[in-house]
Amino acid sequence: MGIRERLGGSRDPRYLFFGGKGGVGKTTCAAATAVWLAEQEGKEVLVVSTDPAHSLSDSFDQDIGSEPTPIEGVEGLKAIEIDPEKAAEEYVETMRRVYEMTDDESLKEMFGGEDMLKEQEELLKSSPGIDEAAAFQKFMELMRDDSYDAIVFDTAPTGHTLRFLSIPDTLERQVKTMIKVRKTLRQVSRMLKSIIPFAGGEDESEEDEILDNLERMKEEIEEVREILSDASQTAFRLVVTPEEMAIYEARRALRTLNHYEIPVDMIIVNKVMPKRAEECEFCRTRREMEEKRLKLVEKYFGDKDIVQIPLFAKEVRGLERIREVAEVLYGE
Ligand SMILES: Nc1ncnc2c1ncn2[C@@H]1O[C@H](COP(=O)(O)OP(=O)(O)OP(=O)(O)O)[C@@H](O)[C@H]1O
Ligand SMILES: [Mg+2]
Ligand SMILES: [Zn+2]
Repeated sequence: MGIRERLGGSRDPRYLFFGGKGGVGKTTCAAATAVWLAEQEGKEVLVVSTDPAHSLSDSFDQDIGSEPTPIEGVEGLKAIEIDPEKAAEEYVETMRRVYEMTDDESLKEMFGGEDMLKEQEELLKSSPGIDEAAAFQKFMELMRDDSYDAIVFDTAPTGHTLRFLSIPDTLERQVKTMIKVRKTLRQVSRMLKSIIPFAGGEDESEEDEILDNLERMKEEIEEVREILSDASQTAFRLVVTPEEMAIYEARRALRTLNHYEIPVDMIIVNKVMPKRAEECEFCRTRREMEEKRLKLVEKYFGDKDIVQIPLFAKEVRGLERIREVAEVLYGE
């Protein structure tokens, strides 16, 4: 059964996210999915790592930059590793542009003025959410880029990923507040003008431009949220190993994903001990434990598509091995 049939025929999401506990195989599954989509479905694919600890380059065994880098040996596949520091700087730069776009003193006060802004920039650069905010910005950018049929996101371990998902909410709240303040200011300024005809103040058209920009930003955020919660466009796949900690973490992740209405279509149980005719004591014990964990996966994620990947003797590195994983995941 191919992926289409497995996922109910018509589903063909453009955005694919892989999440899960550290070390379970997110990067491996993201790489395998990207290779499969490019080679078997003839798509133009971009695989993006938003994990500060890059591993796509390890997985593909080739250098990957912060600009789309063609993957050697796979037609139609490119990869990017977002450099969190660089992306954070770009993000701070955008914040500064928003600030400068706001050529209104009272609104500038809201940002805390120039000194505060500098301070905030420093804080921002070192704040724990900055990687995700930067990654989110990249996501918005890629969303508008129609040169890819599919974009696969290899995310950072669970906690980070989930913070990333809360960004639209936070951003939207901030922009809404700014719009409200802006509208109030406009009313006040109009009132002042009607009372004191020669009162200064900005040109109305200039003011509207700022409001327009804010409104556009709000619409964009809403658009991202819509895309992320639309199962025909987005799929989040949780990767676990047959171990309690990984399963519990995925369960927590699923709750959060449900909260943000992000569709989860697949649970990948990676590194499952292969069944063998003659197992040694160690492998048999291990396998018995895993059987219990697999039942747990059934219990918690029974309504999702559950796929197993065996534990290979060697780590999954290089195209050949990635293809093997892809075949297990999506092959006949
Ligand atoms: N089925 C498998 N059999 C054997 N080794 C595997 C398997 N899947 C992944 N690995 C290996 O396990 C290690 C971790 O995999 P990977 O980097 O994909 O995990 P990750 O979830 O992205 O980790 P991180 O949280 O650090 O980003 C890698 O060395 C990878 O080659
Ligand atoms: Mg990884
Ligand atoms: Zn053994």
